[in-house]
Amino acid sequence: MKLPISSRLLACAGFIAPGDRVADIGCDHGYLSIHLLTVGIASSAIAADVNEGPLKSAMRNAVKFGVRDRMEFYLSDGVRNIPRDFDAMVCAGMGADTIMHILSDGRWLQDPRYRLILQCQSKRPELRQWLYDAGYRINRETLAKDGKFVYSVMEVVYDPGHGISPAETYITPQLLEDNHPLLPEYYERVKSGVELTIMGLQRSCDDRLPIYEGILSDLTALEEQIYGNRS
Ligand SMILES: C[S@@+](CC[C@H](N)C(=O)[O-])C[C@H]1O[C@@H](n2cnc3c(N)ncnc32)[C@H](O)[C@@H]1O
Repeated sequence: MKLPISSRLLACAGFIAPGDRVADIGCDHGYLSIHLLTVGIASSAIAADVNEGPLKSAMRNAVKFGVRDRMEFYLSDGVRNIPRDFDAMVCAGMGADTIMHILSDGRWLQDPRYRLILQCQSKRPELRQWLYDAGYRINRETLAKDGKFVYSVMEVVYDPGHGISPAETYITPQLLEDNHPLLPEYYERVKSGVELTIMGLQRSCDDRLPIYEGILSDLTALEEQIYGNRS
């Protein structure tokens, strides 16, 4: 029996260290935790979801794949009802607003002992800015592709005192460092998004136009680095 796990979730799994106790918030089907336990990376997993249906499906899948004894299940809005003894928390397949809600509600996550693995589906620049404003820092970031979508996955730690520039909230230094084969494709999509925003701001004579023009100029300056060493 093969677990139908996506490249996106496998990229999240790539940030889990051997022996980690994992908390998967918004677990849905539970595939991430089940994968981490069946391949022997995680030592235990907390699977939490705000909705009963997904949580029950995670429980059924845990039984089906023989890992029920190493998983705990919690009906929880974010980290509200879960125990705090874990090493890495994953929030995947969620929008920026949900992730910000979960992190601002769980202030105890602002602790260097936790690693947060975040895979955000919307408003990624806003989330990255919010993370730095809240004292978090992106430690590593990588990419994954499922179908026609390219996803970014970040490993975030609490480490106050660092900043991020407006252009870096679109393409982070950590993504450049990771230099994934999908980076040019991701970069083009990000740049097109900024160009569309600029067109909209031009039409409406919006004051924010110079900010986005600056972001586009800084992003364009990355092209040599992104394309430079590729054959
Ligand atoms: C699109 S699914 C993603 C499932 C899985 N994490 C993945 O990436 O494939 C989002 C899941 O998050 C759950 N969810 C949404 N808001 C939540 C919250 N505040 N706390 C916990 N779970 C939440 C939903 O019920 C749903 O099961």
